[in-house]
Amino acid sequence: MNAKHLNVCMIGYKFMGRAHSNAYMTVGKFYDVPLLPVMHTVVGRKADQLEAFRQRWGWQNATTNWKQAVTDEQIDLVDVGTPNNQHRDMTLAALEAGKHVLCEKPLAATLDDAREMRDAAKKARKCKAFVGYSYRRVPAVALAYQLAREGKLGRIYHVRAWYLQGWAGPEVPLVWRFDKNAAGSGSHGDLGAHLIDMARFITGEEITEIDGAVQETFIKQREIPAAEVGAGISGAAGSTGKKGRVSVDDATLFLARFKGGAVASFEATRFAMGNENNHGIEINGELGSIRFNFEDMVHLWWFDRTAPSRMQGWTKIMVSRPGDHPYADNWWPAGHHIGYEHTFINQTYDMLLELAGKKPTIPLATFDDAFETQRVLAAVEISAKERTPIKLNQVK
Ligand SMILES: NC(=O)c1ccc[n+]([C@@H]2O[C@H](COP(=O)([O-])OP(=O)(O)OC[C@H]3O[C@@H](n4cnc5c(N)ncnc54)[C@H](O)[C@@H]3O)[C@@H](O)[C@H]2O)c1
Repeated sequence: MNAKHLNVCMIGYKFMGRAHSNAYMTVGKFYDVPLLPVMHTVVGRKADQLEAFRQRWGWQNATTNWKQAVTDEQIDLVDVGTPNNQHRDMTLAALEAGKHVLCEKPLAATLDDAREMRDAAKKARKCKAFVGYSYRRVPAVALAYQLAREGKLGRIYHVRAWYLQGWAGPEVPLVWRFDKNAAGSGSHGDLGAHLIDMARFITGEEITEIDGAVQETFIKQREIPAAEVGAGISGAAGSTGKKGRVSVDDATLFLARFKGGAVASFEATRFAMGNENNHGIEINGELGSIRFNFEDMVHLWWFDRTAPSRMQGWTKIMVSRPGDHPYADNWWPAGHHIGYEHTFINQTYDMLLELAGKKPTIPLATFDDAFETQRVLAAVEISAKERTPIKLNQVK
C-alpha cells in the first residue's frame, strides 16, 4: 500500500479516545485506505495519565497544551473527543489553523456554539469537518439507510426511536455528564442526539415540529468524585464527601413530526435499569418497515408489505454478508460478527475517503448536518420548558 500520511492530533483520551485510537491503529489493516492515519499527538490535562495512554496506544507525542497542538504545522486532522462544552474552542482553533476536524457528538453543548462551529466550518473552505455520529456505521443501520434510499419503505408514516441505558443510579458520582455547563444536557444530548441523527439519517427527512416533550431529573444531588472518571471505564473515583447539584435531565421524551408527514416518538434515558445500550429504531412505511436495536447489532429486522399477503412477516437479516452488506467486504466471512469498536473503524475509513476527495457509500455527518440535529435538541428543550409545541422554523 502506498498511501499518503495524515497526521492526527486527538484531544481527550478516555472512552472516545480509546475508540478513536483503536480506529486509527486498525483502519489501514482492514481497509485499503487512501490516506494512512499517523497517531502523531494525543492531548489531555493530566501529564502522568496521558503519558501512560500515549505509550499504551502508540501515540508519538503527548502534550497538555491543546492550543499549541492544534496549530502545530505537522498536524492535518484534529480529533475532538472532550466534553461537549470544549468542542467549540478546540474546533474553532483547529479550523482557524487550517486543519480538518472530526468532532464528537453532539456538535456542541449549546445551539449558539453549534451555530458558530457550523459557520466556521463553512468559512474554512479548505478544511473538512465531520461529527462522530458513529451509529450510522453499524452495518444494519447502514443497510436500513440504503433500503430507504432505494424506496423500499415508501412513504414513511411512523418512527419510534428509543435509547435506554440504566447506569445512572444514585451511587454514580457527579461526572461531567450530569453538569449542564460541561454537557449542555443530560440523556437528551448524550443519547437523544444519536436518536435524532439516526431518524433523520435513515428517513432522509427533517423534523419540522416538536409536539410536546417531558424532561425529568430523578437524582438531584450526587457525590463529587475525588478524581475524574470517564464513561465506560470502571474503577473507583474516590469521594470528596461533598455533594453537588445535577443540572441536566435524566430522561427526555418527545413527540415530533417529519416534513413528509410522518409522526414520531423519541425516548432517551439513563434510568431504564436493566437496559445496557438499548438503542433502537422502528420505521414504518407504506411499503415496508425496519426495526433495529443495538443490543442485537448484527441484525436488521425487515417487513415487506409488498410480499404476497400469506407470506408477510418480519425477516431477521444477519447483516454481515460480504458482497451484499455495507462494510462487510472488509471484515470477516458472513456471520463472523463485528462489534462496537468496528463502527469507529468504519467511520475512520469513510472519513479518510472524504479527505482524499472520494465519496463514501454511507455519508458522514457534516457540521451542517449535525447543526440540524442540534436545532432539534434545542427545540425539544424549549417545548419541555414552555409545555408547548415548537415549530423547528422558530429555532434558528
Ligand atoms: N459517538 C459516540 O457514540 C459517543 C460515545 C460516547 C461519547 N461520545 C462523545 O465524545 C465526547 C467525549 O466523551 P467521552 O465519553 O469520551 O468522555 P470521557 O469523560 O470518557 O473522556 C473525556 C476526555 O476529555 C478530556 N478533557 C476534558 N476536558 C478537557 C480539556 N479542557 N482539555 C483537554 N482534555 C480534556 C478528559 O481528560 C478525558 O480524557 C463527548 O462529546 C461525548 O458526547 C460519543
